[in-house]
Amino acid sequence: MSSAWLHDIGYAPDLSMTGMHQLDGARYLRDVAQADALVCRLVAHHSCAFIEARNRGLSEQLASEFPPVEGLISAAITYADMTTTPLGEPTEVEQRLAEIIARYGDGDVVAESIREASPLIVDSVRIITEALAEG
Ligand SMILES: [Fe+2]
Repeated sequence: MSSAWLHDIGYAPDLSMTGMHQLDGARYLRDVAQADALVCRLVAHHSCAFIEARNRGLSEQLASEFPPVEGLISAAITYADMTTTPLGEPTEVEQRLAEIIARYGDGDVVAESIREASPLIVDSVRIITEALAEG
C-alpha cells in the first residue's frame, strides 16, 4: 500500500537527480526516508521502469540497487499508476498511456519508453482487473 501512495515521489523537483522518477524516488525513499526495502524496490520498478532505465543508460544502477519484484504486487503498483490521472481521477489504461505520450511528446525518452512498455502495462492492468473481479 505504501508504494502505491509513494510511487511517483521522484517527480518532486528536489529529488530529481537522474531525471528518471522511478529511480530518483526509490533512492530518496531508501537514503532519506529509510523506507522498507520492498517499498523502494516497487517504486524503483513501477510501470516497467526497466525499459526507461535501459533507454537512459541506467539499467545497471536500477537493477543493482533495487532488484525487481515479481508477481501480483508489482502488477498492482503499475495498475495504480496507470488507471489514475495525474490529478488522481480514475481513468482507463489506454487513455493514461496516450496522455503520457502526448504530454512528453514523440521522441522524448519517457514517451518512447512508455510506448514500448505499453503491452506489458496493459497486461499488468488486465491481471489486476481480473484478480479484483474474482474477489
Ligand atoms: Fe510513475
